[in-house]
Amino acid sequence: MRDAYIVTSIRTPGCRRGKGAFKDTRPEDLLSFILSAAIEKTENLEKKDVEDLMIGCSFPEAEQGLNIGRIAARMADFPVETTGATVNRFCSSGLEAIALASLRVMAGWSDVVIGGGLESMTYVPMGGNLPRPHPEFTRKGAQVYTSMGITAENVANRYNVSREAQDEFAYQSQMKAAEAKHKGWFKELVPTPATRYVIREDNTFKRETFLQDYDDGIRETTTLEGLANLRPVFAANGSVTAGNSSQMTDGAAVSIIMSEDKVKEFGLKPIAKFKYYTTIGCQPDEMGVGPRYAIPKLMKLAGMDIKDIGLFEINEAFASQALYSIRELGIEMDKVNLHGGAIALGHPLGCTGAKLCATLLNNMRQRSQKYGVESMCIGGGMGAAALFELCD
Ligand SMILES: CC(C)(COP(=O)(O)OP(=O)(O)OC[C@H]1O[C@@H](n2cnc3c(N)ncnc32)[C@H](O)[C@@H]1OP(=O)(O)O)[C@@H](O)C(=O)NCCC(=O)NCCS
Repeated sequence: MRDAYIVTSIRTPGCRRGKGAFKDTRPEDLLSFILSAAIEKTENLEKKDVEDLMIGCSFPEAEQGLNIGRIAARMADFPVETTGATVNRFCSSGLEAIALASLRVMAGWSDVVIGGGLESMTYVPMGGNLPRPHPEFTRKGAQVYTSMGITAENVANRYNVSREAQDEFAYQSQMKAAEAKHKGWFKELVPTPATRYVIREDNTFKRETFLQDYDDGIRETTTLEGLANLRPVFAANGSVTAGNSSQMTDGAAVSIIMSEDKVKEFGLKPIAKFKYYTTIGCQPDEMGVGPRYAIPKLMKLAGMDIKDIGLFEINEAFASQALYSIRELGIEMDKVNLHGGAIALGHPLGCTGAKLCATLLNNMRQRSQKYGVESMCIGGGMGAAALFELCD
C-alpha cells in the first residue's frame, strides 16, 4: 500500500449552538469556506487537482443534507469533475471521512482527496428533525436509542467516576482552552466569515458578515465551585451537568490528503502520515467507553504500545467517559487534549473527528511528537481511533 500524506489540516472556530457566532451562518457556507481556505493554504494546489471529497456529518439533513459533500464542492467552485460524498458514523464521522480519503490514496485509487466534517447543531438538532425509532425493534433493542446524557450517567455509575472527578476534568478543559486561546496556540483555526442579521430602524433586517476568529464556548471564568453548583441535567440524582458535558456546537474542518508522488510534484512539506484507523463496538447504553477499547485495538494493529504515543486527542463527549477511558488505559493526563477538549471547545458531532485531527497535527508539530492518537466514543455503542505519524 502507498502512504497517505496529510498536507493541510484546518478548522473553523467552534461556536455555540443557537447562541454563538455561527447561529445564523448556514452550514454549507461554513464548509465551502473552509474547503477554499484549505486549497489557498496549500501551495501550488488548485481545486482542479482534487478528485473527491469525503465529508462527515452526523445528521445529514435539511441545510446540511442532500449530499453536503457534493453541494459544498460546487459552492466552493471546485470543477464539476470533483466529486463529493457524505459520510456518517455519528461522532467519528469526520475521522471516518479522513480515513476513507486516506484509504483511496493508499489503495492507489486517487492521488488527491479531501476528508473533513461539518455540523451545524443550530440548523439541525441532535437526533435530526424527525427521529423515528423502529416501533417493534425498540421493544427488544431500545438501548441503541439511549440518550447520550444517560449513557454518560451509566458510565459514571458503573465505573465509579465521581462528580468531583468529572468537574475537575471539566475545569482543566476550560483552563487549558482559555490559555491556548490567549496565547494564540490554536494555529489550526482559520478566522471564518459569519452571518448576522441586524435590525434597522424601520424594523427590517440587514444581513451582515463578520469574521469570527475564536471558539466562543470557552468559559474562562469557570471555577470548581461554580461547576459543583450546577444541577444534573439528565438524571435526578445524577452527576452529569452542563458544565461537565461537551457543548453543542457549529463548525467545519478539513484535511487535504495526497500520495507521495503528488507531494513531490507540488513541492509540499507534508505534516503527517495517516497510518491506521479502527473501530470497535460496545454496549450502546454505555457508549462512552468506546475509546477504552478502540485505542488498544489500534495499538495492536500498529504493533505499538500506548507508551509510544506522544499526544492524544480523546473527544470529551462527557467528562465521565473521557476520564474513565484515560484512567483505564493508564494514559498520562499531560499527554491528553493539550489545548482543552469538547467540554470547553464544543463537539460539533460530524465535524469533531476532522476538527480533532487538525488540532492533534498542530500540537504534534508544535511539540515535535512523532506519534499521535485521536479517539472518540460514538452514539449507538462504538469507539474509533486513528494513528498519525509526524513527517520529518
Ligand atoms: C448538557 C446540555 C444539555 C446543556 O445544554 P445547555 O443548557 O444549552 O448548556 P449551556 O452551555 O447553555 O449551559 C447552561 C448553563 O449552565 C451553566 N454552565 C455551563 N457551563 C458552565 C461552567 N463551566 N461554569 C459555570 N456554569 C456553567 C450556565 O449557567 C449556563 O447558562 P448560560 O449559558 O446562560 O451562562 C448540552 O450541552 C448537551 O446535551 N451536551 C451533550 C451533547 C451530546 O450529547 N453530544 C453527543 C455526545 S456523544
